[in-house]
Amino acid sequence: MSSLNAEPQQACLPSGSIPGEPPLGRELTDRLLTISHDYCQAEGGCHGPDHTERVHNLALHIGRLMNARLDILSAAALLHDIGRSQEMLSQGKICHAAKGAEMSRAILAGLGFPPEMQEAILHCIEAHRYRNNKTPETLEAKILFDADKLDSIGAIGIGRAFLFAGQVGARLHNRGVDVAKTSSYSTEDTAYREFLVKLCKIKDKMLTPEGKRLAAERHEFMEVFFRRLEKEIHGSPRNIHANSR
Ligand SMILES: [Fe+2]
Ligand SMILES: [Fe+2]
Repeated sequence: MSSLNAEPQQACLPSGSIPGEPPLGRELTDRLLTISHDYCQAEGGCHGPDHTERVHNLALHIGRLMNARLDILSAAALLHDIGRSQEMLSQGKICHAAKGAEMSRAILAGLGFPPEMQEAILHCIEAHRYRNNKTPETLEAKILFDADKLDSIGAIGIGRAFLFAGQVGARLHNRGVDVAKTSSYSTEDTAYREFLVKLCKIKDKMLTPEGKRLAAERHEFMEVFFRRLEKEIHGSPRNIHANSR
C-alpha cells in the first residue's frame, strides 16, 4: 500500500470532470457517465451528476492509495446513486442503494461487464449506504462508502445540506430544534438538523485510513461553520452538540 501521508494536497480534488485516463477507458467511462447523468440530472445540485463525479474522483484517489480494483470502483461510483430519484419520489420509502443495484444489473450486463465484475460492482452500490444489513464487505465497497460519505461533509457537505433543505422547503436555520421531535422532508429539516442528526457522526464511521484522515479535516471545518452561523444569527455560539441524538 502506498503511504497514506504522501499526498495531503489531495484533500482538494478536481470536480465536475473525470480527469486523466479513466480506469475503464474513455469510451466506456463516457457511456457510464451519460447513463448516470440521465438518471441523476433531476436531482439538482445535491445528488446530481457533479456529486457522482466528485465521489468517483475521491474513490479513485483512495483506491490508488490502497491498491484497489479501480475498474470496479469506477463503475460502482458512476452508478451508485442512479436510484436516487426513486427514493426522492417515495420520500425515503424506497432505498436508493438497493434500487440502484437493481437498475445497474441490466446496465452492466448490457455493457458487457463479466459476471464476476458485475457482482463486485453491484455489491459496492448496494452497500454504499451501509443500511438494511448491507455491510460493505470488499475493499472497493468500503472505499465507495467512504468516498460517498466524504462528499456529504466539509464545505461541500454544508453546501449540499442547504441545497437539500431548499429542495424540501425547509427553513434556513433552527437553533433550538429538538431533533428527536422533527422529521425528514419537513420545514424543520434544515442543514443544521442534518448536521446534528447525521453529518457530525460521519467522521467516526469511515472505513479506510485515508477516509478517516479526510473526514477529520472536513469535520473540523463544519464545526467552525456552524459556530459562525450561530454567532451571526444569535450573537453567540452555543454547544452545537447540545441537542443532537
Ligand atoms: Fe447514495
Ligand atoms: Fe452518493
